[in-house]
Amino acid sequence: MTDPRPKQGKSVFIRTYGCQMNVYDSERMAGLLKPLGYGVAETPEGADLVILNTCHIREKAAEKVYSELGRLKRLKADKAKAGGEMKIAVAGCVAQAEGPEITARAPQVDMVVGPQAYHRLPELIAKAARERGDVLDTDFAVEEKFDRLAAREAEGPTAFLTVQEGCDKFCTFCVVPYTRGAEVSRNVDAIVAEARSLAAQGVKEITLIGQNVNAWASNPPAGVVGDQWGLGELCRHLARIDGIERIRFTTSHPRDMDDGLIAALGEEEKLMPYLHLPVQAGSDKILKAMNRGHTAEHYVKLIERIRAARPDIALSGDFIVGFPGETSEDFEATLALVDTVGYASAYSFKYSRRPGTPGAAMQKQVAEDEKDDRLARLQSLLERQRQAFNEAQIGAELPVLFEKPGRHEGQLIGRSPYLQSVHVEAPQSLLGSVAKVKIEGVTPNALAGALKTKEEAAA
Ligand code: SAH
Ligand code: SF4
Ligand code: F3S
Repeated sequence: MTDPRPKQGKSVFIRTYGCQMNVYDSERMAGLLKPLGYGVAETPEGADLVILNTCHIREKAAEKVYSELGRLKRLKADKAKAGGEMKIAVAGCVAQAEGPEITARAPQVDMVVGPQAYHRLPELIAKAARERGDVLDTDFAVEEKFDRLAAREAEGPTAFLTVQEGCDKFCTFCVVPYTRGAEVSRNVDAIVAEARSLAAQGVKEITLIGQNVNAWASNPPAGVVGDQWGLGELCRHLARIDGIERIRFTTSHPRDMDDGLIAALGEEEKLMPYLHLPVQAGSDKILKAMNRGHTAEHYVKLIERIRAARPDIALSGDFIVGFPGETSEDFEATLALVDTVGYASAYSFKYSRRPGTPGAAMQKQVAEDEKDDRLARLQSLLERQRQAFNEAQIGAELPVLFEKPGRHEGQLIGRSPYLQSVHVEAPQSLLGSVAKVKIEGVTPNALAGALKTKEEAAA
């Protein structure tokens, strides 16, 4: 096998855990390091710098970091023996939450950098080289971070674009408000500039991301008078950029789903008919204890309004089972809500007690085996709904954005408007563009289809 690392210059290996925000941040870190001569390595072996971009959301996610650090300790020693040096950096939400604990538990770590401080990575690397001690930077300076991020290189026809960071909702189970700080919206001009640059590089679909993306609010762009804009206005504005054919946004909070955004979903064709709108639980008692700020009925009514505006919308959600105090009746209410709404896809988790969150100190923690049972029941219902949704597409003609070659020669893989993976026999020339596909079958994790027109198939 050929060594994928550049022969000249240095190499950085970045491992990403957690949500889309981290995926975006990892890309940006690679972009920041490029001018310093770092090429991206495919494996950590022998890399000059290894960055773990970490997630703190559940205990398992956080613990993974320490086991990975154990493995890296050996690689670092191997490199030292060979006369080289490997620096190890921990970035992301575990860095923010457990900074000093990380360097105490894992002395092989040279740098700890929080999610709002990584734009200073070049300085930190220089400092770590000079001082040879641990370097820690977990300041919150989101505005500065956005300003310091240079233009980026697109990879493929789809891209994430951060428009909002942080969270003020303080759900009682969640660490995000502590690891990512308060809600901050990026300004329209900066977002438009990034979207234009992505479009110029062939990006057709942008996904606007934020912990609570629909809490985004900002002044209109320079030269436009009027009130503050919400996410609906931002989406309509971005839809006018040449080359941008599809817009998505994630993750939304039910409390911030305003009329402007619902109207935009109904009227703006470039907004894809797919909405991730987590509800977490179906019992009002549990929703209250979670501090979600709405009832199950409010959520169901909201979905009705969204469906009235955009009848073809498909929904996805997040669920937690076994939150403290959740009885079997409360859990049944979650199943009932899932039944009422009908999801195209969903993520579901066992409640994980997170240090420093109010939920961790609550009485009536639910036993682990009970959580296992509830999760299995919920997942089986959600899986049935997902399969039914996929099967319902058979016979439909869906516009598919082709993203990459498939496993077989002559096959491409793309995305439907509903984020389903679609496998199609299609010419390479269609990579990066949207074509109509007739859906002919489903596999466990994807749809299979054929190009609609002979001209396209022969193109
Ligand atoms: N901001 C988003 C999601 C953030 S985290 C929102 O408000 O929906 C992604 C998902 O992880 C959450 O929706 C929740 O379902 C899950 N999650 C968060 N904290 C958790 C915990 N302590 N235990 C289990 N799941 C959790
Ligand atoms: Fe966490 Fe709740 Fe904020 Fe989502 S809204 S990030 S679940 S505190
Ligand atoms: Fe994890 Fe942080 Fe995202 S805790 S889910 S990486 S915001």
